[in-house]
Amino acid sequence: MKEQLEAIRAKALEAVALTQAGSELEAVRVQYLGKKGELTAVLKQMGKLSPEERPVMGQLANEVRAELEKAIEAQAAVLAEKALEAKLEAETVDVTIPGKRPQVGHKHPMYTALDEFKDIFINMGFEVFDGPEVEQEEYNFTKLNTPDDHPAREWSDTFYLTEDSSILLRTQTSPMQIRAMEEHGVPIRMISPGRVYRKDEVDATHSPMFHQIEGLVVDKGVTMADLKGTLNAVIREIYGPETKTRFRPHHFPFTEPSCEVDIQCHKCGGKGCPTCKGEGWIEVLGAGMVHPKVLRGCGIDPDEYSGFAFGFGLERMAMGRFKISDLRLIFENDIRFLEQF
Ligand code: DAH
Repeated sequence: MKEQLEAIRAKALEAVALTQAGSELEAVRVQYLGKKGELTAVLKQMGKLSPEERPVMGQLANEVRAELEKAIEAQAAVLAEKALEAKLEAETVDVTIPGKRPQVGHKHPMYTALDEFKDIFINMGFEVFDGPEVEQEEYNFTKLNTPDDHPAREWSDTFYLTEDSSILLRTQTSPMQIRAMEEHGVPIRMISPGRVYRKDEVDATHSPMFHQIEGLVVDKGVTMADLKGTLNAVIREIYGPETKTRFRPHHFPFTEPSCEVDIQCHKCGGKGCPTCKGEGWIEVLGAGMVHPKVLRGCGIDPDEYSGFAFGFGLERMAMGRFKISDLRLIFENDIRFLEQF
């Protein structure tokens, strides 16, 4: 039995020393010291020994057990230390690796165009007004001298929000002319950019929501010459100093006389091309002298004061400024498109 115990001691100590992981060590412990382990099996044979041998072997067996337990404990500590080192090694932070650059957005190209536009007007002494997109019919149409049977008032053209058609989504920024005159009074020089809504199907040049910039100047002695001079100056700031303009007679209910303003096509120089749809000219805004009825409706005496108003389409301006061919690109927010600006 002594030889058996010594053999177990030698084998077990070697096995413990060879273990590489906690699980292996536990397997070794079970193999020798477990209930069905090799040392336990030897101890079960003690009964067969003579009374003289029994205590001697008992003592030896206890020694072997104690020694194994100690060795296992020591090896467990070694393995734990190793495991920690491996973990730290694997998790080291390399402070020299370049960081991940956070994705930072930037201004939408349409707002870039708007800010340039605002700067031009602010430098000319204009104030910027903000107004409601949910508007009263009275401001969107009636106070702007729009007749009851005007096609824009149709339910098929305008988003009404009440059955009695008194509240709607504004179809133009022109109601801001009225609000500005009522709230600010005259003299006034203002622009007012914002969203407008119409029942249009989406295509390359239409959207049920788009942006306009309204402008209004009212003072004593304002004439059509001021309108032309101001708009020519602004257009040349936006489209370049060589830009040719054309003022075409038109009709708007709230201005008299009224006009539309075109710029000569910068692509073909007026010969006609796909960009200007063969016209040679591209329409950029509507304008006119504020109708005396409109002034009077805002409590302003048209014999004392006169003024001009204008309305730009912001998308069209941004599309011209950045050579964007399809209106839908402006609203889709596709990052591959936006990243180009
Ligand atoms: N509100 C007009 C439109 O949506 C544009 C316009 C034309 C605005 C003439 C004006 C103006 O201020 O004087 O078509």
